[in-house]
Amino acid sequence: MAEIGEKVKYDEKKKGSGGMVEVNPKPKKGVTSKVVDYIEKLIVKFMYDSSQPHHYLSGNFAPVPDETPPVTDLPVVGHLPDCLNGEFVRVGPNPKFAPVAGYHWFDGDGMVHGMRIKNGKATYVSRYVRTSKLKQEEYFGGSKFMKIGDLKGLFGLLMVNMQMLRAKLKILDVSYGTGTGNTALVYHHGKLLALSEADKPYVLKVLEDGDLQTLGMLDYDKRLAHSFTAHPKVDPFTGEMFTFGYSHTPPYITYRVISKDGFMHDPVPITISDPIMMHDFAITENYAIFMDLPLYFRPKEMVKDSKLIFTFDATKKSRFGVLPRYAKNELQIRWFELPNCFIFHNANAWEEQDEVVLVTCRLENLDLDMVSGTVKENLENFGNELYEMRFNMKTGLASQKKLSVPSVDFPRINECYTGRKQRYVYGTILDSIAKVTGIVKFDLHAEPEEGKKKIEVGGNVKGVFDLGPGRFGSEAVFVPREPGIMSEEDDGYLIFFVHDENTGKSAVNVIDAKNMSSDPVAVVELPHRVPYGFHAFFVTEEQLQELAKL
Ligand SMILES: [Fe+2]
Repeated sequence: MAEIGEKVKYDEKKKGSGGMVEVNPKPKKGVTSKVVDYIEKLIVKFMYDSSQPHHYLSGNFAPVPDETPPVTDLPVVGHLPDCLNGEFVRVGPNPKFAPVAGYHWFDGDGMVHGMRIKNGKATYVSRYVRTSKLKQEEYFGGSKFMKIGDLKGLFGLLMVNMQMLRAKLKILDVSYGTGTGNTALVYHHGKLLALSEADKPYVLKVLEDGDLQTLGMLDYDKRLAHSFTAHPKVDPFTGEMFTFGYSHTPPYITYRVISKDGFMHDPVPITISDPIMMHDFAITENYAIFMDLPLYFRPKEMVKDSKLIFTFDATKKSRFGVLPRYAKNELQIRWFELPNCFIFHNANAWEEQDEVVLVTCRLENLDLDMVSGTVKENLENFGNELYEMRFNMKTGLASQKKLSVPSVDFPRINECYTGRKQRYVYGTILDSIAKVTGIVKFDLHAEPEEGKKKIEVGGNVKGVFDLGPGRFGSEAVFVPREPGIMSEEDDGYLIFFVHDENTGKSAVNVIDAKNMSSDPVAVVELPHRVPYGFHAFFVTEEQLQELAKL
């Protein structure tokens, strides 16, 4: 009965806000604010080594200074197929203001770069996700919120306290969260969401001309009171969205199911022993899979050992929790152990007889400090490999198998198969933690070839699109020629941003996913450079029509 009651209440609200709140923070300037700024300046002056370079603010990691209103009729070499009618969007960090001290690649304000495609014509646009943080920093005209890049050593502790002080004195208004919306994009229930894992989703609207507008924050009619992962999963068969949030205080993990019509069901707390960073998870037809991996939130070690606040413990096992996906509590969760690792991104998961299968990008020796301050240009200590993991629900045993050599991440699939057994995985080839040198297509029906040193065609590698010297890409999204699972799984295109460091120019490339030909189907030249960033999404024409109703 309770559920029916909740549904009725929801349907009434749906006519109004749809669970969206206007983000209207109320920061305060004044003497107090100036005093706190002064204290911060002293802390930075005496405790921060400002000679450290900000690699992630230079080259094509540097932010672009302005947003770009829609630029129409871009030069297209080749042709843009009809199935690409829609808007290709990718988000990434683009800090509006210079940091007062440290900067981590995860810190920048989210900027969405969009390419509206209609009937072979392309329009480019870039807009900030207008977060509470961005609005307040615009009000002050400078950087005021704490950064992950600052969270090292005693200095980190002091910077945490500066943020707490500004919040306590109401200089900053943290009632709408402190997130950047810089990580990923997803479409659900008529809304395009910009996500960062320490915050709630921001709702974006796509206008007729392809322009992007931030409408507000989604709290699901106040049912969402915790953070929301950047990697929720939408089941293509049921239309539901599955998500979780992680926190530094118990419950460290909270799992949620959101119905097709946007109703967020009750929270399901997941018990783990310590606060961790959990970047992704997975679903199958019947289960949700959580990853308890040893990247710990350790503020005490940060101060004592002068480490970043998230530290990886290479001595601990990795744990994977498999929970029936509609469970109301965690009583039925089954935990499996595998050797130590960290995982940013899963490709997909499904069920095979008694086993739950997870295809994922597995890292050893993670150091999150790699994307802060200086950069290690080569692959030293950075191996990120495609793996298949199997969790036997009958025996309770887990196993894993390596499917590639380093380094591959940002795995994507034909998302008509999310949670179901499928065959092809598309990933980015990385030459360092942050630079994409090519796009790879794996065939999970084939075996990996022995003796490979780098990712190249052969065995389970069905194709490699090499970007060439000095050219770097970002996450490639698969767009099927026909939606659904009736046509061949790899019948479609991969679309992604490319930046050429030789010329300083950026483009959108479209390649044929079936043959992975080195000759792109289309290259769309962009009016200015697009900084390297995080995740991409393709909004279909049908979804754009729904977004127009917002
Ligand atoms: Fe991610």
